[in-house]
Amino acid sequence: MLLEGQIAVVTGSAVGIGRGIALALAEEGADVACIDIDSHNNNETVNMINELGRKGLSIDCDVADKAQVRNAMNQTISHFGQINILVNNAAIYIDTSLTLGNYMGQAEAYERSIAICALGSYYCALAASPEIVKAGGGNIINIITEHIKPDHLMTGMGATGYDSAKWVQWRQTESWAVELKESGVRVNALCPGATVSPMLEQHAAIVLDKAMQPADVALAAINILKHGPDGPTGQSYLIGPSGSQTGAADAAALAPDS
Ligand SMILES: NC(=O)c1ccc[n+]([C@@H]2O[C@H](COP(=O)([O-])OP(=O)(O)OC[C@H]3O[C@@H](n4cnc5c(N)ncnc54)[C@H](O)[C@@H]3O)[C@@H](O)[C@H]2O)c1
Repeated sequence: MLLEGQIAVVTGSAVGIGRGIALALAEEGADVACIDIDSHNNNETVNMINELGRKGLSIDCDVADKAQVRNAMNQTISHFGQINILVNNAAIYIDTSLTLGNYMGQAEAYERSIAICALGSYYCALAASPEIVKAGGGNIINIITEHIKPDHLMTGMGATGYDSAKWVQWRQTESWAVELKESGVRVNALCPGATVSPMLEQHAAIVLDKAMQPADVALAAINILKHGPDGPTGQSYLIGPSGSQTGAADAAALAPDS
C-alpha cells in the first residue's frame, strides 16, 4: 500500500471532502489524526477509518485557535509518534457581503473566514512541519478552491472573506514549497470545483447535479502523494472545473500523473 506506516493529519475531517480524504488516506494504509470542531461526526469518521483496518484518532480542535492546534499536534505525536502528511482542509463559507447592513456581524464573519482557513492553515503547518521534517520528509496539501483560478473567479455570493482566505492559502502553498524544499517536504494544493458536501448543500444546492464527490477530490490528493520527494511542489491543481464534465476521471486526469 502506498502509505503503509505513514501518519496523516487531516483538518475538517468530520464530513464532506475532509472525511473523503481521511478515508482515502486510510485505504492507502495511513493512520489518520482527524481534527475537527464537530466531535460527533469526527468520531464517525474515525470509526470508518478503524473499519478499514487503520487507526484513527479524533481530536476536538478549533484550527483558528493556535493553542488548540499546538495541543492537537502534540496529541498526534504522543499517540502515533510522527507526522508524515498534513492536509489543511478545514474552512467555512459565510456571506461577507458589504450590503447586508450588519456592521459587527459582517466584520466578525470576515474575521472568522480568515481565522479558520488562512490562519488555521498556517498554525497547522507551523506545528506539523517540524515533525514532517523530523520524519524524513513528507507532504502538505492545502485544499483551496477553483475560485482562485483565472476564469473561475466568483463575484457576488458574499465570497470575499472565503476567497481572501483561499488566496492566502495559495500563497502559503508556493512559499512553504520553497521554504521546505531542502527538507524533503513537498507542498501542493488542490483547487476543486463544486463538490457534494454539507458546505455545498448549504450554499449552492443548485449545482449539486454537476458536482464532484469527496472521493474525487481525495483521488487527486492520493495522486499528489504518489510522487516521491522529487515530485512536483508549490503547485495548485485545478480539479473538476465548473461547467465541464466533472467526476473521478477528471480529478485523476487533472491531478499529476502517478
Ligand atoms: N464543497 C465544495 O464545493 C468545495 C469546493 C472547493 C473547495 N472546497 C474546500 O474544501 C474544503 C472542505 O469543504 P467541504 O465542502 O467539505 O466543507 P464542509 O463545510 O462540508 O466541511 C468542513 C469541515 O470543517 C470543519 N471545520 C469548520 N471550522 C472548523 C474549525 N474552526 N476547526 C476545525 N474544523 C472546522 C467542519 O466542522 C466540517 O467538518 C474547504 O477548504 C472548502 O473551502 C469545497
